[in-house]
Amino acid sequence: MEKVMKSPIIVAVDKHNLNDALALADMLDPNLCRLKVGKELFTACGTQVVSEFHQRGFEVFLDLKFHDIPNTTAQAVLSAADMGVWMTNIHASVGLDAMRLCKQRLADAGHNTLLIAVTVLTSMTDDNLRELGIMRTAKEQVLHLANLTKEAGLDGVVCSAQEAQALKAQLGADFKLVTPGIRLSDDSSDDQQRICTPKDALVNGSDYLVIGRSITGAANPNEKLKLILSQI
Ligand code: C5P
Repeated sequence: MEKVMKSPIIVAVDKHNLNDALALADMLDPNLCRLKVGKELFTACGTQVVSEFHQRGFEVFLDLKFHDIPNTTAQAVLSAADMGVWMTNIHASVGLDAMRLCKQRLADAGHNTLLIAVTVLTSMTDDNLRELGIMRTAKEQVLHLANLTKEAGLDGVVCSAQEAQALKAQLGADFKLVTPGIRLSDDSSDDQQRICTPKDALVNGSDYLVIGRSITGAANPNEKLKLILSQI
């Protein structure tokens, strides 16, 4: 169950082993952030890392971006929810029926896990989409898949802060926008192309900010987390 938490920050724990992941978690306050477990960490550590985070009082976003036939996708979502994660995700390109089935299976099991979709990976350009036979621009395809996600009854989408304003206007206040690519003005942008400050992302309509290296690379991650919260 989602506890009452005002912080919109989800810290991306992009670590390669359990020790490094727990060392980071132990530096952070579970009242000030949630934690994201992605493919790298989950493939290395499995469910143990999720239960260790839960034991420390953190809510977890399991970012495994499931994409498979409808039954397999829905059962994977169910397995994630059975672990007690706060949020998980699938690719919207699994299609409307598969998205609906995922939502249905969560409801049948009595889970209130948030289920969001990835529309177009932010690494994809218009040219990359054309190579795949998709003639819409990335921007058009994001909007199309976000509308489909809403139609399927999912809780929201992952999107860049630049897309947030248009998506919020189109899809409404209740449709959650989860936004990576966040940096403070004096942070390095690393490999992110289109970055946004935490405050601007929230003003644009983001509900949750996924922040990795800006926090995890700081000498004192919890102090950096508090600094970001003081600016929003
Ligand atoms: O370190 P940084 O703040 O760039 O980390 C962002 C996190 O969000 C990483 O875990 C990355 O995989 C994830 N992410 C992203 N862009 C997307 C989807 C997820 O950066 N479109």
